[in-house]
Amino acid sequence: MSRGYFITFEGLDGSGKTTQLRRLAASLQSEGHKVVTLRQPGGTALGDRIRSILLDSRSEATLGAIAPLSEMALMFADRAQSIHEIILPALDSGAIVLCDRYTDSSEAYQGAGRELGSERILAMHRAVCDNLQPDLTILLLPSLEASLRRARRRNQRHVQQKGTDENRFEREDDAFYQRIYRAYEVIASREPQRVVALREDASIVQIETHIREIVSLRIPAPVI
Ligand code: TYD
Repeated sequence: MSRGYFITFEGLDGSGKTTQLRRLAASLQSEGHKVVTLRQPGGTALGDRIRSILLDSRSEATLGAIAPLSEMALMFADRAQSIHEIILPALDSGAIVLCDRYTDSSEAYQGAGRELGSERILAMHRAVCDNLQPDLTILLLPSLEASLRRARRRNQRHVQQKGTDENRFEREDDAFYQRIYRAYEVIASREPQRVVALREDASIVQIETHIREIVSLRIPAPVI
């Protein structure tokens, strides 16, 4: 079996990456590609448990403050499980894997946001993920202000409508997000082959078209 193709989506909360991932998945599927999608943290039974610990701002009431290194280790425990259960089997079967966040998120959020430093994250990635790198990373980097506005509005809606609260990260201050934004820029310039940064504040459809073009250049149409 040929190895598949591994694409990750990255960006700040509210950057629109989840919407774009879904649209790309639909478009690739309609062309006859086998597509597997997942998000991190989450996606496996273990990962969903880890996700609720990490993202729910009420966790701290029962668990106490989560130390930055524990947060990092939990993100990687989740990642190791999804590599083992989902990503590698899918790639081995020849699928295109679309993953909503991956190690760049840990480098940006824990490395820069929590100030643990990139080296520690990259060492963890080598140790825990066997250094499995995406073939392509779509990094959505609209302006910081636009992302934050969207993320905070969305979280308000979630709390009101579903009673879920995933805002342990979203209540961080602007300086935290500025560090993350800057880290993403550094990653994009460090690895220009892998990471394509889309900075435009364009419409959803325009960005979708742009992503489709980028992906078409890298993945040939399936032989049906
Ligand atoms: P998610 O629901 O994926 O948010 P969004 O749809 O905005 O991407 O929430 C994931 C949150 O977890 C997000 O705030 C970023 C954070 N995160 C990290 O801090 N480190 C990581 O390694 C990952 C995968 C996510």
